[in-house]
Amino acid sequence: MPLLSRRGLLCALPPAAAALACGRGSAPVVSAPSTVREIRQIVPALATRDGAGVSLSRSLGSQALPLLDPFLLLDEIRSERPEDYVRGFPDHPHRGFETVTYMLDGFMEHRDSVGNRGRLSAGSAQWMTAGRGIVHSEMPEQDRGLLWGLQLWVNLPARLKMTKPRYQDILPGRIPELSVAGAAVRVVAGQIGGERGPVEGIYTAPTMLDVTLAAGDTFEHELPARHNAFAYVLEGAVGLGAAASPVRQRELAVLGPGASVRAASAGGARLLLLAAEPIGEPVARRGPFVMNTEAELDQAVADYRAGRLVAGG
Ligand code: CO
Repeated sequence: MPLLSRRGLLCALPPAAAALACGRGSAPVVSAPSTVREIRQIVPALATRDGAGVSLSRSLGSQALPLLDPFLLLDEIRSERPEDYVRGFPDHPHRGFETVTYMLDGFMEHRDSVGNRGRLSAGSAQWMTAGRGIVHSEMPEQDRGLLWGLQLWVNLPARLKMTKPRYQDILPGRIPELSVAGAAVRVVAGQIGGERGPVEGIYTAPTMLDVTLAAGDTFEHELPARHNAFAYVLEGAVGLGAAASPVRQRELAVLGPGASVRAASAGGARLLLLAAEPIGEPVARRGPFVMNTEAELDQAVADYRAGRLVAGG
């Protein structure tokens, strides 16, 4: 979504800080098969503005949590007031990572500079690998009522940062909806039992689940031990880990090591569960560009200004 104005969070993280931010280097990775991941940190989303003046809630990508390797940013837009979102995110570039848009209500009109165009409706997802560069616009739309959507940024390793751009536009009907011990789970990416989410061929092998818990439900899901994981609460309150420590709406919980995630809710809740394999490379970020070094960021800015971002590579 963002324009060059995302400077606030665009520090180049030195590797040591990145390692701290993603929790590596502290706890041992060894875990018994039965261990449940516990909460390592709770990050409340902060109200901010981005794009051409869109009000949003930012959790990941804030000062409290700049990075959870390979995840770079999580924004939630949720408003019934058009003035909060209609100015949208006009033409802006991306290079070096992936943007994931997940719509829960309303629409996101998407156009890019090489003619790709789509309208994401409620329940649909777009996993866009920006690679060497795209210039696009993302405009939230709603006839009436609620506009509700999320954008997640996922990093690419050095060897794929200049790859050809790729879109995976996923209609709502392609996302499996399962009932797991009472919980309603949409599998956007990853796998539950024999059901696999439609997102394919992503380097970090992500899991992205949209989990709705009725009052009294408990959901447990195994994740690869080496994956970093977090939960973001969309509605209600959820207890995470063996101790069922509470996490509330618009809070992100970073999960520590372990074999599985356990989420329980006394009064009902909806949460996003994300996990992926960390990349473990230096992260240099500036606005809509995420590379490995400052020199590569300078090159991205120069390419964009010269109109070479899309053609370049
Ligand atoms: Co964008």
